[in-house]
Amino acid sequence: MIGAALTALGKKVFRYMSKYNEPRGIFCAIGRCTDCVMEVNGNPNVRTCITPVVKGMVINTQKGLGMWDG
Ligand code: FES
Repeated sequence: MIGAALTALGKKVFRYMSKYNEPRGIFCAIGRCTDCVMEVNGNPNVRTCITPVVKGMVINTQKGLGMWDG
């Protein structure tokens, strides 16, 4: 999963909350809490703890609620 791969690389902050800009990272690791959501291939709010890694993915830290392109 994306979250496991990033954690293995030492990443702890996956997103920043919209209201107080507080950092969040892996918490439940089973797709329930949304603390791990990131922007993946331009799509916000992807739960990285339950999303498999695919070669060539573009993964970014999410700030706030996330915005779709277009
Ligand atoms: S860590 Fe809770 S949904 Fe991913």
